[in-house]
Amino acid sequence: MFKKWQKKWKVSGIQLALIITTFALGGSLCGYVGRMILQSTQLEKGPVWITLYILLVTLLWPVCVLIISIPLGQFGFFKKYVGRIFSRFYLGPSGIKSDQAFNNIPVQIAIFASGAGSNAKKIIEYFANSSRVKIALIVCNKPDAGVLNIARENNIPTLIIEKDRFFKGDSYLKELQQYSITYIVLAGFLWKLPAQLISAFPKRIINIHPALLPAYGGKGMYGHFVHEAVVANKEKQSGITIHYVDEMYDHGETIFQATCEVNETDTPNSLAEKIHQLEHLHYPAVIDGLLQK
Ligand code: GAR
Repeated sequence: MFKKWQKKWKVSGIQLALIITTFALGGSLCGYVGRMILQSTQLEKGPVWITLYILLVTLLWPVCVLIISIPLGQFGFFKKYVGRIFSRFYLGPSGIKSDQAFNNIPVQIAIFASGAGSNAKKIIEYFANSSRVKIALIVCNKPDAGVLNIARENNIPTLIIEKDRFFKGDSYLKELQQYSITYIVLAGFLWKLPAQLISAFPKRIINIHPALLPAYGGKGMYGHFVHEAVVANKEKQSGITIHYVDEMYDHGETIFQATCEVNETDTPNSLAEKIHQLEHLHYPAVIDGLLQK
């Protein structure tokens, strides 16, 4: 049994002994403090006393264990351990992320894309040798999209999705779970996301938009249409916005923006090129930064 824990937590025999000691001392301390608090209320022992005791001990346990872990040199381990328990209880699927970090399993990302996939390619290349992050799945709504070739070239599994199941069925949550996906990155994905998918990945879906939101966002504003509108309006600058995804088009909280100049000579094509350069430069690094938080 001890060997199993040692393997699971990737710790030495001595560290395992210190961890078990911390559990034991932390448990005793929280039992003691819980009793002290209840004695000070002069409540009679009975069902109410027991219920309060259980509640108190549950609340005190993480604090006591963390306190004991400091002199035993195990604070780093217990910080992650307690964090994992909290995220499981309070954060739903996002708890998986800290689970993965705790067990040194890479965070599994699904990239959703509908087109050529130049952003997907840059993200795949950026994380190709990462031990922390794995591009585990490419999700696409167009069977002939260029991004599927990029997935094939990089040996990344693909999932072609259909409207009915995406919007009216289970939104492919089963497959996302099968691949242990905990982050979704949209890279030129042109369908709006259904509410159940968004709530299954709270603050874990991000998108890139080829303009400085809130300008030039919303329904119908994607890819080339954005650049055409920016050039037609003779804007002096444009740029990119990386943002969390909510149930409205191009609306969630902004994470990052970068700008570029728009010259009088610029066409929608030349602007698209500038924007792609900005996207390729920043998107992978911004994702990396978010995953390290
Ligand atoms: C990118 O410019 C991205 O910002 C845009 O589609 C392009 C996809 O290019 N996304 C949107 O317009 C979403 N509203 P890619 O397939 O070469 O990565």
